Amino acid sequence: MASQHDGSLGTSYDPMRQFAEIAGDVRDPYPMFAGIRADSPVLHVELGGSGSRYRHDQQAPRITSLFTVTSYELARQVLTDNVRFSSAANAMTIGQVMGRTILEMDPPEHRRHRALVAKAFRARVLDQWSDTIIGATIGELIDSFAGDGRADLIPQLTFPFPVRVIARILGLPEADWPSFLRLSTQLIAVMRNWEGALAASRELRGYFAEIIADRRRNTRDDLVSQLISAEVDGRRLSDEEIYPFLLLLLPAGAETTYRSSSNLLFGLLSEPGQLEAVRADRDLVPQAIEEALRWETPLLTVARSATEEVELGGVRIPAGSFVAVSLGAANRDPGWHDDPDAFDIFRDGTSHISFGDGAHKCLGMHLARMEMRMLLNAVLDRLPGLRLDPEAEDPHIHGLIFRSPPNLPVRFDPV
Ligand code: HEM
Repeated sequence: MASQHDGSLGTSYDPMRQFAEIAGDVRDPYPMFAGIRADSPVLHVELGGSGSRYRHDQQAPRITSLFTVTSYELARQVLTDNVRFSSAANAMTIGQVMGRTILEMDPPEHRRHRALVAKAFRARVLDQWSDTIIGATIGELIDSFAGDGRADLIPQLTFPFPVRVIARILGLPEADWPSFLRLSTQLIAVMRNWEGALAASRELRGYFAEIIADRRRNTRDDLVSQLISAEVDGRRLSDEEIYPFLLLLLPAGAETTYRSSSNLLFGLLSEPGQLEAVRADRDLVPQAIEEALRWETPLLTVARSATEEVELGGVRIPAGSFVAVSLGAANRDPGWHDDPDAFDIFRDGTSHISFGDGAHKCLGMHLARMEMRMLLNAVLDRLPGLRLDPEAEDPHIHGLIFRSPPNLPVRFDPV
């Protein structure tokens, strides 16, 4: 796989650069969200142009009329109402390159298909992966720089971490990981580079076809084997039904967790008092994770479409309109949290909707939390004296679709 892919797309491909581009260079969209929310909790914008709803028509879909929801209460209302707000909106965007995933299904079809993978992602089941997969991956990555006294935690730790975890959960051979990471990165850049994402989708399908064929011959203890033996309505899934699952799981699990881990480390490194408090009392780790997810959600927006005319927050939304739920704006709604722009792990009862809500609430949230917890504990255990590199140039978080820091240069006492 590796040589074929390197040859077809050239050797200059740099996944970190591509991720930085996806993030965009918007430093702080939160004042803008606050302004919109203060004006109306639902912003209506006419975008013009004609829409396209066809899958694989090789043209990026156009969204003509957009309603953006910025209040916490209304965001939850939309996400928990599958009847009036359909997830079919995702078919117009990410569905074009991934095929029909659970992300774009509505109940009851959604429930049946989600149940197939849900078992593998339950908190209890995940324990089997904690040491062998997650701990081992973190250990390998930190080993490679622990003796140096300095590192950039994004390319050296948080970026490669979750994609390796997912590749291991899927049981993919280690030699394939670099190509796999490159293709996943390209796939999720769908809204920025449409053609590149379609090409990556085709290549990944070809790759998964080989993996599925192999697992049909030799069943193993991995997620691909579980999907092959799973049944919906008494029948086994075809390869065409399994691809979208695989295409969704890797980017959904790799991109978001890389960014959320980066934001967690960035928040703590920017507030050394809070970092030291967590180092001294590891019981604070879970609340540090939840506050980081609230403060800087890695994914700013999720999409829905109105199935009928709806009134939301005093705004009339016509049937068929595209509804963008701004998770970032909702998490910082001052009606929900005091001083919402501050990163404060000691705030009373932090809560957020960074994992969404309702039927589509993130399937991988227990895995994501476990990954973030194990990563933070390992960083605190193995990198004594960890601090932002005083020579770091302008450390910051950016992005308008996804958010995280492009770099995180640190110093620590080498061991
Ligand atoms: C901090 C990390 C993560 C964040 C912030 C996050 C966020 C989200 C959000 C907001 C949704 C809902 C989308 C919607 O309602 O349209 C979602 C769904 C989903 N997530 Fe995550 N996610 C994370 C990690 C993961 C991981 C590690 C995996 C799996 C390996 C994963 C797999 C999924 C899947 C399969 C869905 C679709 C669920 C459905 O449609 O029923 N996510 N995620």
